[in-house]
Amino acid sequence: GDNVMYLAHKHEIEIEGACEASLACCTCHVYVEEAYCDLLEEACEDEEDMLDMAPELRENSRLSCQII
Ligand code: FES
Repeated sequence: GDNVMYLAHKHEIEIEGACEASLACCTCHVYVEEAYCDLLEEACEDEEDMLDMAPELRENSRLSCQII
């Protein structure tokens, strides 16, 4: 299905996505507006592992290619 990274690209919002959603990078890192954090499926373990390598990691960090 469509993920947030794909939707961003479709609307010409620049988010990198070096590995094309295969959970092998953290270049699609985004911050999710607090109000929406609880509405999303939790990050899987592989996403958490990649996120740990993202610069400026925050409580509301996600990999946008994993948000569906
Ligand atoms: Fe690489 Fe999202 S594009 S993990």
